[in-house]
Amino acid sequence: MLTNHHKLKLFISDKRYDHSLEVANLSKKIATHYNYPDPQNAYIAGLYHDVAKDLSIVLLHDYAKKYNYQPESDYVNSSALLHAPVGMLIIKNEFEISDSEILSAIRYHTTGRANMTFLEKTVYLADIAGSGKEIGHSLEVLKLAYTDIDKAVLLTAKETLLHLLNKGRYICKNSFECYNFYSNTQNE
Ligand SMILES: [Fe+2]
Ligand SMILES: [Fe+2]
Repeated sequence: MLTNHHKLKLFISDKRYDHSLEVANLSKKIATHYNYPDPQNAYIAGLYHDVAKDLSIVLLHDYAKKYNYQPESDYVNSSALLHAPVGMLIIKNEFEISDSEILSAIRYHTTGRANMTFLEKTVYLADIAGSGKEIGHSLEVLKLAYTDIDKAVLLTAKETLLHLLNKGRYICKNSFECYNFYSNTQNE
């Protein structure tokens, strides 16, 4: 029988697998730094966060239909957004991982959201810091992640918005709400 680890390798490219390992290790490191009780959950959420990233938009919609998920209207046409909630459904139903904190960390890893759980923050930050994404300041994010995790989330949310604006791309509601929520926590 295939282990979840083997299954993951069937879903994603070798390059994506390397990225996933990096995000898993980084996420666990941040969790351990803050004495999070289940650092292994941070590792697991990081390892599986991009399980659906290499799927086409058609396949993403097939999975959404299979698991009775009606994507938010601003997610419908975007595989960049849709891979996160659909990945969560694949991990829940096909990898049989039921921990709600792991699942929500996968669900919100791309956009963030207002008032994130600790595990959501670790995967969101580890993904940026460990991704080589075109978004700037990843080193600063990584440094901040260990000293002021909410500030690191704010910087990431801000950089993500700027990146999308510069490229003339669509910005979804969760990304805005993430930025607004964490900018408010810094100004209080
Ligand atoms: Fe992703
Ligand atoms: Fe990722």
